[in-house]
Amino acid sequence: MTSTEHPRITGPPTPAFVIDESTLNILVSRFQNALAKYWPHSVMSYSVKTNPLPWLLTYMKRRGVWAEVVSDSEYRLVRAIGYEPGQIVYNGPVKSRAVLRAALRNGSLTNLDSKREVRWAAELAEEDPSLDVRVGLRVNWDLEGRCPGESTVDGETSRFGFDFDNGDLEAAISELAAAGANVVGLHMHRNSRTKSLAVYRAAAGVVAEIISKLNLDLDWIDIGGGFFGSPNDATRFDDYISCIHTELEAIVDLNRTRLVVEPGGSVIASSVEFHAQVLDTKDIGRQRFVITDTSRTDIDPLFRKKPVYDIDTEAALGTSHPEQVIVGFTCMEDDRLMVLKDSPKLVEGDRIVFRCVGAYTMSFGSSFIEFPPAVYALHENLLTLVRRAGDVEDYLQGNIWTGGQLPPTAAQLE
Ligand SMILES: Cc1ncc(COP(=O)(O)O)c(C=O)c1O
Repeated sequence: MTSTEHPRITGPPTPAFVIDESTLNILVSRFQNALAKYWPHSVMSYSVKTNPLPWLLTYMKRRGVWAEVVSDSEYRLVRAIGYEPGQIVYNGPVKSRAVLRAALRNGSLTNLDSKREVRWAAELAEEDPSLDVRVGLRVNWDLEGRCPGESTVDGETSRFGFDFDNGDLEAAISELAAAGANVVGLHMHRNSRTKSLAVYRAAAGVVAEIISKLNLDLDWIDIGGGFFGSPNDATRFDDYISCIHTELEAIVDLNRTRLVVEPGGSVIASSVEFHAQVLDTKDIGRQRFVITDTSRTDIDPLFRKKPVYDIDTEAALGTSHPEQVIVGFTCMEDDRLMVLKDSPKLVEGDRIVFRCVGAYTMSFGSSFIEFPPAVYALHENLLTLVRRAGDVEDYLQGNIWTGGQLPPTAAQLE
């Protein structure tokens, strides 16, 4: 290769997400192995909101991973994919009465998060004494107090679950028990800043305290998600489960009480890359703007990632530019993905691959200015289209409008 040749990266037509099945295999197997090693009587359930792509849900189901859902729509989605109710963990603060009753009747592992859900579950137990209503309760616990610096809600309290300290958790347990329903699970999920082991040690410690104080006999302890995972870190999942195990082994019977985990980002983030292309470049002042066919709406939809991505590009080797700003296709000034300093020069047509963009990207899929991009799965060097790019026809279909004509094709516009 001569010094100004462009290294070629193979990939699908841009813009597109590519899911690398081999990375997914590694991460899912690692999590399953960690559970098998330290808590065999356990449930791994995939956090559907993290990326609800049907191909991915089907993959998880095939791998024996349950589905963790947090809304009625997600519940119905995973049923449509083929999940049985008994393979669904049903969480979230806004369940409907109808889906909650169906979930409890049909054996979904259900964690209640609000007073109305407690009321509805109690109603069901009273109505049908032959039904064994078994529920979990989400616990509101003080992450910041136990692990300073870890809370993601600076100076404020978490809005989820029942507070143990103010008596709400105990009141919910009493209300359910009076109706003949059993509280057999605790749900501990908290997002944290560093995803450190200390957070999981603290969560398990709170479980131990509640079990001892309230003398609970639990079917499950749901520790939630929020883990860190990377193909380059072979031991992290082992470390998490081993530390939870250490904290709880003296308190619960590991052969009776199941550990439930709900990983999302830790298994899907690094399994997905985004393939984009340079559409144009523009020099203004000291900066060169590199305009692409992607946007932060695709790979950073909450506009809060640090502008440092692990990328690969086709920029010509042996060239250099002091400051290139990679920008998106939208009309927003802050649609700036990252700045490359003293890096090879990108030109029209060069491919850029952004790595580690699988979590909370497709689920926030945006129709702002452009419709959501295509998704491909990469399996043994073979790319398969698993979601076609959104288009005007899809958009019109879901809308009530006064028109009625099909949109013109690009060629018809010429
Ligand atoms: C209840 C619950 N479980 C699991 C997850 C998945 O978290 P993560 O994607 O960080 O693994 C979340 C995310 O916020 C959550 O709220």
